[in-house]
Amino acid sequence: MTKVLAISGSLRGDSYNAKLLRNAVDLFGGDVDVEILEGLKDVPPYDEDDDRDGAWKAVRALRAAFAGADAVLISTPEYNSSIPGHLKNALDWVSRPLATNPLRNKPAVVVGASTGAFGAVWAQAELRKVLAAIGARVVEAEVAVGHAPTRFDEEGTLVDEDLREQLGEVVEALVSAVAEREALARTAA
Ligand SMILES: Cc1cc2nc3c(=O)[nH]c(=O)nc-3n(C[C@H](O)[C@H](O)[C@H](O)COP(=O)(O)O)c2cc1C
Repeated sequence: MTKVLAISGSLRGDSYNAKLLRNAVDLFGGDVDVEILEGLKDVPPYDEDDDRDGAWKAVRALRAAFAGADAVLISTPEYNSSIPGHLKNALDWVSRPLATNPLRNKPAVVVGASTGAFGAVWAQAELRKVLAAIGARVVEAEVAVGHAPTRFDEEGTLVDEDLREQLGEVVEALVSAVAEREALARTAA
C-alpha cells in the first residue's frame, strides 16, 4: 500500500492549511495510507552540534515519518512572503546527511492557503525550491487558496468547486509520481 506523509505547515488550532490538508487527505483512494505528521512544534532549532544519532526524540520521530513514506504532501502558510520558519527548520533536520536523506527521490507536492489574495504562492514556490535542493522529486501541481476564510464551510470542507478540482488533480499527480518511481525502480532492478 502506498504511504503518504501529510504535513500542515501551520501550528495553529483552526488553521486553514490544516483544513486544506484534511480535504486533500479525503481525496486519496482506499489503497493509499495517509499519515498526518504530528509533533512539528516539538522539533528544536537546527544545530549541527546536536545532529548526532539519537540526539533528539522529536527529530528521530520526524526523520522516521519521512523515511516511512512513499510520498509527501505539504500545505504551507505564507509568513512574510516565505516559508514559516518552523517548517523550514524541520526540513533542514530531515535533509541531513544530504546524500542519504529520506526525501531523496521521493515525490513531494505542495499546496497552500492564506488569508490574503494569493494563496501563499511565494511560500509554495520557496518550499518547492527547498524540497528540490534536498533532492525530492517535486511534483509540479499547485493549489493556491486565497481569501481562505471564505473558502471553507463550518465543517472545514473546501467549498470552492474549482479549488476542489485542482486539489483532486494534485492528489492524482502525487499518486502517479509514486507509481512512476516504482516502475522505474522495477526497470532498474
Ligand atoms: C507572521 C505572519 C506573517 C504573515 N505573512 C503573510 C504573507 O506574507 N502573505 C499572506 O498572504 N499572508 C500572510 N499572513 C497571514 C496568513 O495567511 C494567515 O495568518 C493564515 O491564516 C495562516 O495560515 P493558517 O490559517 O494555516 O495558520 C501572515 C501571518 C503571520 C502570522
